Amino acid sequence: MSEPVWAKGAGSVPDNEMMRFMAGDDVVLDRELIGYDITATLAHVRGLERIGLLSGDETGAIERALDELRARLGDGRFTLDDRYEDGHSAIEAFLVDRLGEAGKRVHLGRSRNDQVLVATRLYTIEALHRLAERSLDAARAALALARKHELDPMPGYTHLQRAVPSSVGLWMASYVEGFCDAAELLRLSAGWINTCPLGTAAGYGVNIALDREGVARELGFDRLLINPMHAQATRGAHELQALSAAWQLAQVVRRLGWDLTLFASAEFAFVTLADEASTGSSIMPNKRNPDVAELMRASASVVGGAMGELQQLVSLPSGYHRDLQLSKGALLRGLRAVERSSALVPRVLSGMTLHTDRMLDAIDPPMFATDRAVELSVGGMAFRDAYKQVGRELDALAQGNAGASVRARVSPGACADLRLNELEAWVESLAERL
Ligand code: ARG
Repeated sequence: MSEPVWAKGAGSVPDNEMMRFMAGDDVVLDRELIGYDITATLAHVRGLERIGLLSGDETGAIERALDELRARLGDGRFTLDDRYEDGHSAIEAFLVDRLGEAGKRVHLGRSRNDQVLVATRLYTIEALHRLAERSLDAARAALALARKHELDPMPGYTHLQRAVPSSVGLWMASYVEGFCDAAELLRLSAGWINTCPLGTAAGYGVNIALDREGVARELGFDRLLINPMHAQATRGAHELQALSAAWQLAQVVRRLGWDLTLFASAEFAFVTLADEASTGSSIMPNKRNPDVAELMRASASVVGGAMGELQQLVSLPSGYHRDLQLSKGALLRGLRAVERSSALVPRVLSGMTLHTDRMLDAIDPPMFATDRAVELSVGGMAFRDAYKQVGRELDALAQGNAGASVRARVSPGACADLRLNELEAWVESLAERL
């Protein structure tokens, strides 16, 4: 590892084993963040120029060097590796190597503490918007199936026991709304963390009148995190909110994964997942396994685990603590897991075959009991009496017409009134607001 940015030229620094322990996975994780770090460095440098602490020439030279670094990172001519303590040190080392004196001026008025905050914040806001888009794509795929099978009957279950006739339309529309809810929370969370920590330095400000507002504006933030100690205190806490919003999407994906694995089993045989989403067994030639749906389901546990890590980390007194470095891995791992699994939802949904004949066959006479009790009480009998009467005669209940039952379910939101246009309008209005 090259000399750390904080080496002072006298006295010894920790040996390699100590340095590697402290750096941890940072240099690898920072590969995801360094682009945002470069963007924020550019804004910081322009801010210094505005208050007369860097000349126009220096600023121009630094901008060109940062562009070059970005290009080199893009095509692999520059790799963030364990020559550096972290991405921040790599940027500074590159600038000093290219520019000498001007490179050494860049860190005036900032600390790696606000540097890592701002890079993480920019990354997270973008990631949340991407997740919201994935969620809306999933909603659109569910909507297409809801429209195609709007009134196709399927059993409705509670406790996994047959309950009442329902429809594929209702089942799929539940995912449209679930994915919209998740997208809304992701969007709101991105707005909640859209605050600029840059210029708070190590957590106590600096003795220069930095143009914090201008820098924040250039970076696209809505507002400043005003208090430098509070800015530090958001580390981990804002990440936790991001993961928590991502978890909401993950739990919808998990439920879908559950439904699909259940309904793909021979006991139900309501759906057949596409070949591209199915695997075989190394020993049992007959197997057709829903691994994709299962792993989609499991991504919620990855995010949940990452949230647990953050909850343990956010337990420190005021001020920066190196513990907080570990929030980075949890954040990236959690968001990545949800992004990968949610991205596959449209393909899994559009590729599966629905066996509506099997669904219809699974609707047996007792499932019409509730309809019957409701009919009797609409006719004048008190509901509890109707309930008891139908309950006593369950065995005598005739097979009903599931299609008619579905078409008669007119309570708002139910099978006959799914309000798909309203849901579609919500999807598209969310898409516009991202
Ligand atoms: N890699 C460090 C982190 O993620 C950067 C900040 C280091 N700051 C410090 N005071 N040692 O927290």
